[in-house]
Amino acid sequence: MSSGNNVLCQEDTIIVRKAHIDDVPAMAELINSYGRQGIMLARSRHQLYQFIRDFVVAENEQGRIIGCGALSIVWSDLCEIRSLAVQDGWLGKGVGGLMVRALAREAQQLGVSRVFALTYRVGFFEHLGFHQVPHAELPHKIWGDCLNCPKYPNCDEVALMMQLDAEHKENN
Ligand SMILES: CC(C)(COP(=O)(O)OP(=O)(O)OC[C@H]1O[C@@H](n2cnc3c(N)ncnc32)[C@H](O)[C@@H]1OP(=O)(O)O)[C@@H](O)C(=O)NCCC(=O)NCCS
Repeated sequence: MSSGNNVLCQEDTIIVRKAHIDDVPAMAELINSYGRQGIMLARSRHQLYQFIRDFVVAENEQGRIIGCGALSIVWSDLCEIRSLAVQDGWLGKGVGGLMVRALAREAQQLGVSRVFALTYRVGFFEHLGFHQVPHAELPHKIWGDCLNCPKYPNCDEVALMMQLDAEHKENN
């Protein structure tokens, strides 16, 4: 895959760009490897094709997919980071942070003011500027998707939120 396509950000030899149809098999393998461990929700290839426009991927200098993540718009003031995964072997090297920053920037550019994640990786998201919020603070409309989660209604993931307004104003 040519790395010149839709590059959103770059750090050293890693680029983050919008996902492409050809990336789906690698994205499915990555997400579902964590899905099998119960760390994140599995995604079918059909779901990935359907929501491909939500996704960014991280690519190494060999053009290999080493991470992916999605931004899902919930409402005018709220969006969610989903399906965020970095390949084993690339963990702890800044790839996840690079993708979260690219997704948050995309949310800002769209004019959405808050982004949240439901996750077990609390420290990672807090480090990036998110803060914990009670599940009850999230609007009911997000829970529709949770009906498909095998853990529903006993969600043990932590809700974290980040306000995007301040940075949005600074950068514009
Ligand atoms: C969560 C995940 C995406 C993080 O990706 P990563 O590439 O390993 O994380 P990064 O190296 O980009 O970490 C970003 C920053 O957070 C910090 N950080 C990471 N984990 C942390 C923790 N538990 N506590 C505090 N800080 C943490 C890192 O030190 C780094 O700081 P820096 O930018 O100042 O160097 C990755 O661990 C993963 O794929 N996990 C399995 C799937 C999963 O749980 N996904 C989340 C679903 S929402």
